[in-house]
Amino acid sequence: MTTDRPLPVIIDCDTGIDDALALLFAIRHPGLDLRAVTCVAGNTDVDGVVRNTLTVLEQAGAPDIPVARGAERPLIESVRRAPVHGQDGMGDLGLPAPARTSADMDAVTLLRREILASPHPVTLIPTAPLTNIALLLRTHPEVVRNIERIVFMGGAVATGNATPVAEFNVWHDPEAAAILLTAGVPITMYGLDVFQRVVVPGPDVRRLRASSEPGTRLAGELLAHRGPVTDEQDPGGGLGDAGAVCAVVDPEGITTELLPVEVSLAPGPTRGQTVVDRRPRPGEAEIHHGTREQPLLDVALGVDVERYVKLWLTAVE
Ligand code: RIB
Ligand code: CA
Repeated sequence: MTTDRPLPVIIDCDTGIDDALALLFAIRHPGLDLRAVTCVAGNTDVDGVVRNTLTVLEQAGAPDIPVARGAERPLIESVRRAPVHGQDGMGDLGLPAPARTSADMDAVTLLRREILASPHPVTLIPTAPLTNIALLLRTHPEVVRNIERIVFMGGAVATGNATPVAEFNVWHDPEAAAILLTAGVPITMYGLDVFQRVVVPGPDVRRLRASSEPGTRLAGELLAHRGPVTDEQDPGGGLGDAGAVCAVVDPEGITTELLPVEVSLAPGPTRGQTVVDRRPRPGEAEIHHGTREQPLLDVALGVDVERYVKLWLTAVE
């Protein structure tokens, strides 16, 4: 990726406070060429996601990037919203309805069109439940020939958020996540283990909020949203999904290991868990039942927080 040949990327999102932070970064970083944005139900209903996404692009003065509406609900589960993003799914900031409108095609059609039309392989950045991505891979598997890598925000090696062991995006549609893992292209898992660490300090948030530039001010307002998961004492704001886009621009900022990952689909307390096998060698299960083929993912285990905060602030401001 260079500024004279920006990397073609597509974001699939459920905007969403931190999805909005990811979009602002992707729009403003000179090394990225955001070809399209596709929307899926998750943090809020899919029509709310489309509205929020168009609002972010409008506030940021983005070029006319196509935005398409995707799945209204997961493949199997019902919609289970994430109230941490407020009633409207984007911090209830009271922003005016966008003048921009969504594309006259569905998300899977737009994803296929933009991936196959790109002169250089596309990097796909899902920051939401993976329903659209699963439908794309099952409907148009030929797209994999022009996908460079999928860097998705989802899963967790250690602790979950939606449940003790499951991360929201994977938990919301576990079957879709399992289909993603079999895509047959390089995949980076940007999970909660790194997602929760990248926080913009309070003084920077206050500076952004005071900006006269609408996109910068929006970034500050979004970072300042105090949801139940944020630390009331700490005036800083988590970059969340935006960290996954930082990992596309600057992959050296995360530490990864190529590890087997499996999604637990069984009903019960582990449903939606990403089971990451970090053992140094096979165990008794393999001795007694044989080794099972599992997809290998580049799993993010560490992140240079200051590096990504600086990268994001430099692009957005
Ligand atoms: O678990 C965090 C993820 O769920 C983020 O992508 C957030 O926006 C929600 O979609
Ligand atoms: Ca999201």
